[in-house]
Amino acid sequence: MAFPVERPRRLRVNEPMRRLVRETHLQPENFVLPLFVCEGESVRREISSMPGHAQTSIDLTVAECQEAVQLGLGGVILFGIPARKDEVGSEGYNPAGIVQRAVRAIKRAVPKLLVITDVCNCEYTSHGHCGKIVGEDVDNDTTLEWLAAGALTHAQAGADIVAPSDMMDGRVAAIRRKLDANGFPHTPILSYAAKFASGYYGPFREAAESTPQFGDRRSYQMDAANAREAMREMALDLDEGADMLMVKPAGPYLDIIAAARARFDVPIAAYQVSGEFAMIMAAARNGWIDQDRVTMESLTAIRRAGAGIILTYFAKDAAKILGA
Ligand code: PBG
Ligand code: ZN
Repeated sequence: MAFPVERPRRLRVNEPMRRLVRETHLQPENFVLPLFVCEGESVRREISSMPGHAQTSIDLTVAECQEAVQLGLGGVILFGIPARKDEVGSEGYNPAGIVQRAVRAIKRAVPKLLVITDVCNCEYTSHGHCGKIVGEDVDNDTTLEWLAAGALTHAQAGADIVAPSDMMDGRVAAIRRKLDANGFPHTPILSYAAKFASGYYGPFREAAESTPQFGDRRSYQMDAANAREAMREMALDLDEGADMLMVKPAGPYLDIIAAARARFDVPIAAYQVSGEFAMIMAAARNGWIDQDRVTMESLTAIRRAGAGIILTYFAKDAAKILGA
């Protein structure tokens, strides 16, 4: 059957009809809000390349978390900005480190909020790399010990989910083993399984003060060209005990999200990263695009591709738009 019998426009005639046949829905609980926690009190340092986002001290981070709960967000993910960085990233696995203290404070003040912690070393190392430097590269197997130690301190502080973002081989197994051996067999691991070496992380590195001081991250993060390798990374992480898989960035990698959704029967998350956020904000601030409309369209695309969980700097804005 074809035109004139087939007329797809019949189902687009008005908003009630479009609403009835809509295939993809966004809810506030799909969104996870990234937060950057720093030392001090009543500190709020705006991040110039990420309008509306800031490094905040624990007290103000708790206030953000209260708003996150009121808006019905799925949760928050915490990144730490330590007072001092060193060669071995010791603040990352210090039980009294900035993220560990923030988790305790949030869990005390806002117990209903789901708290995810990013597990990595680049925010804590003086060289800005995600692990221990031996020669000119990151040494995989020593880095695993730091990551496992860091994840354990997060779980001990009360984190609901730990999310390793370093891309070392074997990190999920190392973290799972460490958590299980120390009384945290029920803490899930959300693995940044398919994390690509991306120019879209630029603003984040300003936010987290984690720009590598030499070289780049291409010896551990994935090459943008590789979809099959992304499937292999995800399969390996599942074998090692990952409970959920993440694709990152999101918008430029919708094919990877769709393939992951079709292939693996675990929750799929996607991270709409700082550069994706910054590009939309920059164009909107120039009056070139409609900010709210493009925000929701970008999130709908990520959801439609198959991500049930979206880490996004638009989490609060999107929840407000949905509730309006
Ligand atoms: C750290 C980490 C990064 C992001 C999340 N965790 C940066 C990087 O790998 O350089 C990026 C998030 C964003 O750009 O919003 N391993
Ligand atoms: Zn890192």
